Amino acid sequence: MKHVAIALLGCGTVGKGIVDLLEKNADLIEEQLDTKITIKRILIRNLAKYERMDLPKSIALTTEFSDIINDDDIEIVVEVMGSADFAKECIEACFKKGKSVVSANKDVIADYGIPLLKMSQEHNVDFQFEASVAGGIPIIRPMYSSLNSNRIDRIIGILNGTTNYILSNMTERGLSYEDVLQEAQDKGYAEADPTNDVSGYDAARKIAILATLGFHSAVTFRDVAVEGIERITQEDISHAEEMGYAVKLLAIATQSDDGISLSVHPAFIPKQHPLANVSGAYNAIYVRGNGVGDVMFYGQGAGAFPTASAVLSDVMNVILHTNLTITGKRGYVWHQVPLVDPSHI
Ligand code: NDP
Ligand code: HSE
Repeated sequence: MKHVAIALLGCGTVGKGIVDLLEKNADLIEEQLDTKITIKRILIRNLAKYERMDLPKSIALTTEFSDIINDDDIEIVVEVMGSADFAKECIEACFKKGKSVVSANKDVIADYGIPLLKMSQEHNVDFQFEASVAGGIPIIRPMYSSLNSNRIDRIIGILNGTTNYILSNMTERGLSYEDVLQEAQDKGYAEADPTNDVSGYDAARKIAILATLGFHSAVTFRDVAVEGIERITQEDISHAEEMGYAVKLLAIATQSDDGISLSVHPAFIPKQHPLANVSGAYNAIYVRGNGVGDVMFYGQGAGAFPTASAVLSDVMNVILHTNLTITGKRGYVWHQVPLVDPSHI
């Protein structure tokens, strides 16, 4: 059996989920790949915190990225730290050293995804980021691959698990915004700083990534008109309930002859609509293509094991060389399409 050593950058909710899922499914993964995956090193900041954690003794914890980048045994680096700039520096350093990268970090993908993909191709390594949008739901690969024959004109999603957890628990359990936000943080759904979750910017980054892939157009989260859920009160939720609606944070991307429109905002959804019944930290994404019609993706959009499922599958895809390409073989064409103010649609 072959052997591949990997390293993790980060060992929080997602990193620990990867360690545990790899251990749980090691036999199944090894059978499929004829390869044993070993986590050799993990980068963290606070050693004392992780020495108390239940991690296999074979894993070397380090606070120095140089320990990972200079270790020639390590072929694949899994970036699960969060934030954009340091993560980008690490990813670029990995490519230069011939290491493939898997990332769950929507901040870095939304800001630098296309240049990083190009750089990975220049260095002949793989770069995959299925977990960066909607946690465990397979949506990145369908957007660049399985739906390729379609002209996609609409993507509508509940793309943030934390805000969906807050809104559905305010509705179902009558709890206050603050109490449910604390629960979402305790369950590991929220970002280290939950501001981007509740302000809508996490969903904005995710819809920018999906629109970039689905519309073949390089858009960024700065092109998205964003309103979060900070001002939603229990009263708003009760009024919506009385009128037969659920309040959901929607991310919407549309493409027409006029251009592309991108927005994230709370919306009233009729109770009978499938999106109204997406509860807890679940996410859902509708995609409309001119061949396939409507397709809906649904599942857990946050949390340790759902996210680890996407990340580890990416690691397996790197080993199997089923990599993501945006130019060349797949014949992708990138359009510059005008952006349309969503309020005019
Ligand atoms: P956590 O905050 O739980 O964990 C972050 C980890 O990264 C910690 O181990 C932290 O170490 C380490 N870290 C952060 N910055 C540095 C740094 N500069 N140098 C070294 N180590 C660092 O985050 P999550 O696990 O929740 O999320 C990780 C990534 O996955 C994020 O990009 C997030 O958006 C994404 N993601 C998260 C999901 C979820 O459900 N939580 C779902 C899908 C994607 P230390 O503790 O020592 O500071
Ligand atoms: N904080 C994010 C969420 C994690 O709540 O959806 C998944 O990207």
